[in-house]
Amino acid sequence: MADEGRAPINVVLIGFGSVGKAFSRLIRDSSASLASKYGIRLNIAAVSDLRFGSLVPCEGMDVSRLAETSLQPGGFEKYPGGSSRAQNETIIRDVPADIVIEATFTNPVDGEPATSHCRRAIEAGRHVVTCNKGPVAFAGKELKALAARKGVTFAYEGAVMSGTPVIRVASQTLAMAGIHGFEGILNGTSNFVLGRMGEGLDLGAAVREAQALGYAEADPSADIEGHDVRLKVAIMANELLGADISPEQVLCEGISGLQPADILKASRAGQHWKLIGSASRDERGSVTAAVAPRALSSGHPLANIAGATNAITFRTDVLGDVSMVGPGAGPLQTAYALLSDIIAIYRS
Ligand code: HSE
Repeated sequence: MADEGRAPINVVLIGFGSVGKAFSRLIRDSSASLASKYGIRLNIAAVSDLRFGSLVPCEGMDVSRLAETSLQPGGFEKYPGGSSRAQNETIIRDVPADIVIEATFTNPVDGEPATSHCRRAIEAGRHVVTCNKGPVAFAGKELKALAARKGVTFAYEGAVMSGTPVIRVASQTLAMAGIHGFEGILNGTSNFVLGRMGEGLDLGAAVREAQALGYAEADPSADIEGHDVRLKVAIMANELLGADISPEQVLCEGISGLQPADILKASRAGQHWKLIGSASRDERGSVTAAVAPRALSSGHPLANIAGATNAITFRTDVLGDVSMVGPGAGPLQTAYALLSDIIAIYRS
């Protein structure tokens, strides 16, 4: 399918952290196959970032080059169309884009300001694609209903397991399989940290490594204390089990209470500590959800999932257990989820 003559899809990027940067590189590197496979041409019409400012690039400017530049705070100012001030709300409202990508930090307490960004974008008639767990966990139902009223899509594949397509597969392909529960390793940082602690590193050093690799949240205590998984469990319970729960209703315990000695002792006994997020629906339809560390014996399907890899097992009526394993964190992996949502919107 040729894209000659097709108008580009204009995208506004809210957040130019590691994921936003990776997204700009990914669409540059994929532009030929996006055009030939799907007839899609993507254009970054504006970028806004709390640290770097805002930018409405002039025609022909390659935003992905900025991802390879060592930008200083306010650094967008020196480019044509740039300002040292972030203007998230104004850009969302005023730049005539087709899609707003919300890729700012996840706030595990109330999902703001990302939830307001998504709401404003949908109200302005834009599709919203996000990897931000906050808006989906705290306001997913409201934002989906608003998007339906406005005739646009609110898509969030990257909110759980980054580019591994669990939400789409579970909500579409497994829609008739009768999912009644799930359990999984849903945080790459804590899984990576547990592995490194098992090799003798202390918690702080292991977290610093995860930060350097781009896995950790802006505040990594969300990874370590289980709050990130709590958001993901709430998202999946609402999406797949028909629940209507907020993150506070998910029981939550993280891994900060585990010492390297506990991990080594378990490993000598053939066990592996993992941070497990789970939810299930009983016969009366009531859903319980929790996040907690568990020592799994070697034969357990989640025991040998290592590094930032995630895994989930869906319990279904028709198929029994169905499991998926794949990346759960990382800038490129998360950027891929954003791209997969955009393709899904334009293919439908
Ligand atoms: N900090 C998260 C993780 C990023 O480590 O899994 C992906 O949600």
